Amino acid sequence: METVTRIGEMQSHAEELRRKGAMIGVVPTMGYLHDGHLSLVARARKEADVVVTTLFVNPTQFGPGEDFERYPRDPENDERLASRAGTDILFMPATEEMYPAGFKTYVLTEGLSTVLEGAFRPTHFRGVTTVVMKLFHIVKPHLAVFGQKDAQQAAIISQMVKDMNLDIRLIIAPIVRESDGLAMSSRNVYLSPEERKNAVALFRSLRFAEDAVRRGERRVETIRNGMEEILRNAHVSAVDYVAFVRPGTFEVVERIDPPDILVALAVRFGKTRLIDNIVIPVS
Ligand code: PAF
Repeated sequence: METVTRIGEMQSHAEELRRKGAMIGVVPTMGYLHDGHLSLVARARKEADVVVTTLFVNPTQFGPGEDFERYPRDPENDERLASRAGTDILFMPATEEMYPAGFKTYVLTEGLSTVLEGAFRPTHFRGVTTVVMKLFHIVKPHLAVFGQKDAQQAAIISQMVKDMNLDIRLIIAPIVRESDGLAMSSRNVYLSPEERKNAVALFRSLRFAEDAVRRGERRVETIRNGMEEILRNAHVSAVDYVAFVRPGTFEVVERIDPPDILVALAVRFGKTRLIDNIVIPVS
């Protein structure tokens, strides 16, 4: 595996690879890699000739008072893990090169980026779409792999790709969970041992929703109440939202109707904010 830190060098590499007819797959990450990220790299490995994993803690997607400074970082271990998982090129740009003084241009997907996560983190998705668009221009991928764990991010990036006519195939890979069901996330390290035990309630509440729909329950409020009870019993400090939406559009559903719904939630344990979701088929 080769590590590239300069934007120009990555672009020349990508151009050369394209000239040779190689199919480039990119896996954008903020590092502190876990098995969830590595499953995305493995997926890219299957689909592309050359896998580029990017590692960049993107300041523009963190709001004031969020965890940018303390976001976990371990680039040396990331290099090892990325290489073992099948990365060919690890792209680790410097913040000063990605956002030099005088940077003024942002990419914004309207509507979708103001609901759910966007309502609680108003500038978050503008930072995500901006950095992902930059990474696409730098890595010049034919395909890009993102995780379903960040379902709203995946929907927004799909919309951006469509709206901007980007010739990039998106693959949204399934959520990878710990053995007790907690979705893997770099932020799980913030949890105290007690909070970590209680955090299994996120998945439990999603499973509760899935079971309820399977049993024929069609009332959103009834399911939401049951889910919130599970979360409250796990001593979450706040439930930011438990939302029932259409996958893809994030249009809120009033009643559980076919063909499927996405149940997404965000909760806090102290200062730690966790998200999770499930897509439930409805017949
Ligand atoms: O999902 C993430 O880790 C980030 O939002 C991404 C896509 C790498 C952009 O910084």
